[in-house]
Amino acid sequence: MKTLKEAYKNYFTVGAAVSAHWLDEAAETVLAHFDTVTCENEMKYNSIHPHDYQRPDFWAMRHGEKPAPPEITRRERFVHPALETDFSAADKIYNFAMSHGLKIRGHNLMWHASYPWGIFEQLTADELMTNTHEHFGLVAEHFPDCYCWDVVNEAIDDKHGGYLRDTVFKEKFGEDYLFEIYALARKYFPNAELCCNDYNEFDPVKSENILRLVTALNERGLVDVIGCQCHLNAMMEQKHFDGVRRGLDKYADLGLKIHITELDVNAIDWKNPDAAPPEDLQRKVAETYSKLFAIFRDYKGVIENVTLWGVSDKYSWLNHFKNAEKRQNFPLLFDSEYKPKEALQAVIDF
Ligand code: G3I
Repeated sequence: MKTLKEAYKNYFTVGAAVSAHWLDEAAETVLAHFDTVTCENEMKYNSIHPHDYQRPDFWAMRHGEKPAPPEITRRERFVHPALETDFSAADKIYNFAMSHGLKIRGHNLMWHASYPWGIFEQLTADELMTNTHEHFGLVAEHFPDCYCWDVVNEAIDDKHGGYLRDTVFKEKFGEDYLFEIYALARKYFPNAELCCNDYNEFDPVKSENILRLVTALNERGLVDVIGCQCHLNAMMEQKHFDGVRRGLDKYADLGLKIHITELDVNAIDWKNPDAAPPEDLQRKVAETYSKLFAIFRDYKGVIENVTLWGVSDKYSWLNHFKNAEKRQNFPLLFDSEYKPKEALQAVIDF
């Protein structure tokens, strides 16, 4: 059997998101099948600058309910994140990649879901900008060889009629903040590709907004890659696959590279999550992957990298999604024992 990277060597590089806590058990599979890696969590702000101010679980709250802002202690460490850093988990993955000649994508520099919640809100715009400079500088110094960085992750609003997501960064820095932040990323990461990474990227309304943002960034020379996360599912119908193609067509017209950054195929029907999974579930997952990779192959030369959001079904964020604590999902190419699944075979045989 060919490996995944052998099968795709004339198309695009293939990658996997990995986590420090299971990297050792996945290493053999990663080295055999993948050209690139991404840290699933370890390069995010909250991992590099650990703190106790986690984002509240807004899903679990009543509509309109808002937790009180936490009391800030030792403000200095939030203005100057260099005062408290922990690179150990990210180092493990970065050093693994470097020592084995794998390329590594940086994920991510700024994200509304990874910062000291309620604390940044209490900083002045100048203080938050000082923080941003310092954080970007530290990351650039520590991980000089990430070939690409997701700059401001998921900056587009989900609400129809909206454009940019309301975040603490937009609130402090103003509506045009993305130009400033991408320009900073260019300054600190002059040799890396800068990626605008988002989800639901094939929703017709959202994709228009992504195009609007990427076009504006591109006019200023601030972006190189459009990141399509591709958190998809096994219930997709033909019209959805057609939507993927239409979306890729639109993005390809911009002349930038495309990365598929977080591909997985959810197998649970969230409208009825506790129903017994259909018997042909694994087959459906395999067929979905097969159709998706057939589309991706048609964009050879535009798609530079396809990254799976994990390696084995044993560890996937989808096993925990929507309070699905301990519910096993089947979204990846290897089973919980790292054995190749039908889905892997389906992607390799073309
Ligand atoms: O490390 C702690 C552990 O000590 C603790 O016992 C446990 C209890 O819940 O939590 C652990 O941290 C969790 C972490 O994943 C590591 O497993 C966090 O609670 C959990 O919020 C975190 O979720 C990650 C999520 O991003 C938020 O950062 C997922 O693993 C990760 O797959 C997911 O990835 C995102 C991309 O970055 C952006 N696009 C969407 C994608 C999927 O949500």
